[in-house]
Amino acid sequence: MNAPEQTEDKSDACAASRDGLSASFQASFFAMCRLGSFPWHDLERSLQDASSADVLSDILQKTVHHPLCKNNPPSVKYRRLFLSELIKRHEASAAEPLDDVYDALAAVLGAEEEPVCHKSYLLPSGDFVTVSESVAVISEGTTGLVTWEAALHLAEWALENLGAFSGRSVLELGSGAGLAGLVVCRACSPRRYTFSDCHPSVLQRLHGNVRLNGLAPRRDPCPGPAVSVEELDWEAVTSERLQEFEADTVIASDVVYDPDIVCCLVQLLSKILQCPPQGRCPDVYVASTVRNPETYGLFKSELSKAAIRHQAIPGPERQVFPYNRTTTIEILKLYS
Ligand SMILES: C[S@@+](CC[C@H](N)C(=O)[O-])C[C@H]1O[C@@H](n2cnc3c(N)ncnc32)[C@H](O)[C@@H]1O
Repeated sequence: MNAPEQTEDKSDACAASRDGLSASFQASFFAMCRLGSFPWHDLERSLQDASSADVLSDILQKTVHHPLCKNNPPSVKYRRLFLSELIKRHEASAAEPLDDVYDALAAVLGAEEEPVCHKSYLLPSGDFVTVSESVAVISEGTTGLVTWEAALHLAEWALENLGAFSGRSVLELGSGAGLAGLVVCRACSPRRYTFSDCHPSVLQRLHGNVRLNGLAPRRDPCPGPAVSVEELDWEAVTSERLQEFEADTVIASDVVYDPDIVCCLVQLLSKILQCPPQGRCPDVYVASTVRNPETYGLFKSELSKAAIRHQAIPGPERQVFPYNRTTTIEILKLYS
């Protein structure tokens, strides 16, 4: 027979591994990660080792029963698939059935699918950043209504490079749904943050996401960054307008994806890097998913033609947000 201390140690270890498992399910669920990326094998092991009802209840509390899921839920289809998979794995383990899981699935089966869903990402502080997104990857003729991996990569890099943002005025180009900027505003203490894009629906969504994260645009001297959302078309913006942002740092993620817009993007970057005689040039960082090496090569060669030097800098070391890391993502620092 185990000594009481050994039994206590074992149950503490069980509780700790259960917490780790449900935390991992929570992070993946709210970020709407591919179901295949969930730690199903750990769940199956855990269902055999511990009380299956405790394990499943923990997971339900941290996902579909979490208050965040009431206010800013992942899509109906995603919740349905998630619960169906949970039931399948649970049934395969031959554990006692848990009514709560079936009730949760029944509730979501009756819900109507909407064109908009929410993805939430846990910051190291324990707070969530939430973005409202389109369910479709491309909708209303734009790629800007969903979060792309490069935004998550840049956000992770920002968390490790606070000096590039803290106390600074930051301008973001092609913000899309706004994830990178929301993370910077919530965790990197910029003095001022300007989200920008050119597409009317993206700008509307950006306004909504800024408000959703308690960053209502304001310019008064309250604590926290002065946040604004601006229409800024790379093709049309003037050097004078760019100077109004007084940017110390300029960032962009996943803006190098279409050879047709590479030239106007480089022209814009050239204007940004035209430093005022007495002033300091902003630090410019562009994070790109290298889907098509030709398009990326074109971007680099256009930078060189415009006399903009570029250097790939080390990416983030720590994985904070769950996302698909199979494609190469590179962050370039640009210099005049
Ligand atoms: C692939 S999305 C990336 C969105 C976001 N940065 C991310 O990584 O999730 C590209 C973004 O660039 C914006 N964009 C494309 N052409 C633009 C232009 N000429 N002026 C301003 N924004 C533009 C799009 O509206 C879209 O939001």
